Amino acid sequence: MTSLIPVGISGMGRYVPERRVPNAEFESLLDTSDEWISQRTGIHERRYAREDELTSDMGAAAAREAIADAGLTPDDIDLIICCTVTPDYPFPATACQIGHKIGAERAGGYDLMAACSGWVLGAFTASQFVATGAMRHVLVVGVEKLSSVIDFEDRTTCVIFADGAGATVFSPLEFAKRGEYLHGSAGMRGGTEDILSIPAGGTRLPASAETVAKRQHFIHMEGRQVFRFAVNTFADLVRKCVEGHTLDDLGLVVPHQVNMRIIESAASQVGISLDQVFVNIDRYGNTSAASVPIALYEAREAGRLVEGKIVSCVAFGGGLTWGHVALRW
Ligand code: COA
Repeated sequence: MTSLIPVGISGMGRYVPERRVPNAEFESLLDTSDEWISQRTGIHERRYAREDELTSDMGAAAAREAIADAGLTPDDIDLIICCTVTPDYPFPATACQIGHKIGAERAGGYDLMAACSGWVLGAFTASQFVATGAMRHVLVVGVEKLSSVIDFEDRTTCVIFADGAGATVFSPLEFAKRGEYLHGSAGMRGGTEDILSIPAGGTRLPASAETVAKRQHFIHMEGRQVFRFAVNTFADLVRKCVEGHTLDDLGLVVPHQVNMRIIESAASQVGISLDQVFVNIDRYGNTSAASVPIALYEAREAGRLVEGKIVSCVAFGGGLTWGHVALRW
């Protein structure tokens, strides 16, 4: 086998819908309060897409910005990996809609479904294609329209999930010049669909009047179980990112924006301060596969990605799935 090609991030983009939904909006719908939501989750507001704004519209907006940021055109893109659990259709893949909307005529594409771990596992996958020379420029889009699958009668889930998109182009490092891919990982534990899933609409429970009446097309979550899993996994993944290094080499952790209390507990388990963790959950809530690429984009905008230091992207979610991508900025 020929030697591997160093890989980097050549471009990043982000799209968040215009509509801001503050916690107070839920007070009129449910038995909840701004105070409860902010204290238990760290979320102050989130964004919801318009009804006519599709997952692929948000993904395409983020993708256009990422491609331009890389100094490329859509024609340069070899592959589009769209990470989402809220596709435009059960099939075809939303990657095809995004490719069509941005005019990426040469690109292949498919969707990757790993819930909140989606973009991290997509980034891990994309890096392998570029490293082997099979592809030169791979676009990874993390995008969700979770407002379309939220049960607004369930106060434990509806206040958490939200909409948005982040996109990243992986290219040979000699072209990208930044965001060097160091290593990644992927893990999963099946048989956990009772903890976090959309129960119906697949082959197990095809859509029927009964599944609609039972509200089984909405997100179902056992919050406390997810909480425990998330804290431990988060901490393990950050440790994996810095294996062979010291915590001084760690520039910034860019985690899945899951819940502020989870982020605080995991940071204290690893022994890092919150200054070393990028957080924007207060403004966007949990946007699942979109959360890490939006956070990475905003971390760069805020000047938080320090040259030469490790950036630890970690995520975990339904499946259960988890993974990390370690970058050197
Ligand atoms: N407003 C007011 N009360 C609420 C509420 C809300 N939005 N949501 C839940 N509650 C209530 C519960 O009904 C429960 O009431 P009860 O004691 O009368 O039954 C009480 O608050 C405590 O519930 P509990 O589930 O123990 O709360 P919690 O502190 O664990 O917080 C979550 C709930 C969902 C915020 C928390 O478990 C969590 O963040 N889990 C991880 C979820 C997540 O991030 N999932 C995505 C993974 S990718």
